[in-house]
Amino acid sequence: MSTVTQTDCLAWKLVSRPAADVRADHFELAKVDLPELQDGEVLVKARYLSIEPLLRGRLMDRSSYAAAVHPGEVMTGRALSEVVASRSEQFKSGDIVEHWLGWREQAVVNANELRAVETGPWPISASLGVLGSSGLSAYLALTEIGQPQPGDTVLVTAASGAVGALVVQIAKKLGCRVIGVAGSPEKCRFVTSIGADATINYKTDDVESAIQQAAPDGINVFFDSVGGTIHDAAMSHLALHARVVVFGTMDFYANPDRPDTGPRHLRTILVKRAMLRGFLIRDFEDKVPEALSRLAAWWREGELTAREDIRKGFEKAPQALADVIAGRAQGKVLVEVN
Ligand SMILES: NC(=O)c1ccc[n+]([C@@H]2O[C@H](COP(=O)([O-])OP(=O)(O)OC[C@H]3O[C@@H](n4cnc5c(N)ncnc54)[C@H](OP(=O)(O)O)[C@@H]3O)[C@@H](O)[C@H]2O)c1
Repeated sequence: MSTVTQTDCLAWKLVSRPAADVRADHFELAKVDLPELQDGEVLVKARYLSIEPLLRGRLMDRSSYAAAVHPGEVMTGRALSEVVASRSEQFKSGDIVEHWLGWREQAVVNANELRAVETGPWPISASLGVLGSSGLSAYLALTEIGQPQPGDTVLVTAASGAVGALVVQIAKKLGCRVIGVAGSPEKCRFVTSIGADATINYKTDDVESAIQQAAPDGINVFFDSVGGTIHDAAMSHLALHARVVVFGTMDFYANPDRPDTGPRHLRTILVKRAMLRGFLIRDFEDKVPEALSRLAAWWREGELTAREDIRKGFEKAPQALADVIAGRAQGKVLVEVN
């Protein structure tokens, strides 16, 4: 990788939109300007990039709750950076901050675009995983929408992923019976090792009959990060008054052009008096401090397993995203910037 001067730095730009699979060659490394610091601004240096499935949505030319990235633009994304120079009262050199400045080694940014990150005797990377978006979303979506009660049966899709694995463990802590769905024997073994009572390998099992067998009395809480045919199979096995957390759409990311047509569930929702609701953390901001303190307490006591899949080197970002979307990751994927 070439050296940069103080007036520019390296960034990954989108070259072309992926049609289906994401590949490293959809991105190119480029120099971007690093303007002089003005009052109210800080210079930040990236420490970790958060590589997460929602970035796939930003590569699509469709409207969503966030803007798309266009070819020629710097790739967007959440990151943790260190402040290296500051002309703002809000931050000083050495502070760790979270932001959405994307895949750039450095940036000059207005301090108002940064969120201070609490540091302590734990790796700062946790602030992007178990103590960050993954953990907070897992906890709040499960407790606020899923409303699990002791003895409930909870079905979790993408159960070996960064969020799913935490949902499995939190649901167990809340006294539920948990069924995890994952895509390989190794992933199913991992999901069992963190406490799931039953697992389903959606690539080899008949998902519908496996759900019937694992949840003969029906599913009380369906935490769905996937959609598609697994969603349809689970919807046919809801218990009375079930809660369905619509959390993620991994199947859509894998098959963006497949129409969203499967069995329609209106009769099930009616007959089971089920509740189905989408989750975005912005609707639960007031609950974040409580969620964070609960997660932090569990995690520091060693009661939560939170795997990290750390790729060392800024140059690894595009391949890391390709691996996340293809299900080749082992936990929360982070790129550690040198
Ligand atoms: N609503 C929110 O606020 C919010 C917040 C964070 C994340 N999310 C969403 O939640 C989902 C999971 O996020 P994450 O960070 O846990 O991701 P992750 O760690 O990358 O895990 C995602 C897992 O999904 C599975 N998967 C991929 N394609 C699939 C398919 N077609 N069918 C079934 N499973 C498939 C893969 O495992 P297998 O090998 O088992 O297939 C993969 O490991 C994503 O859709 C993400 O966008 C939503």
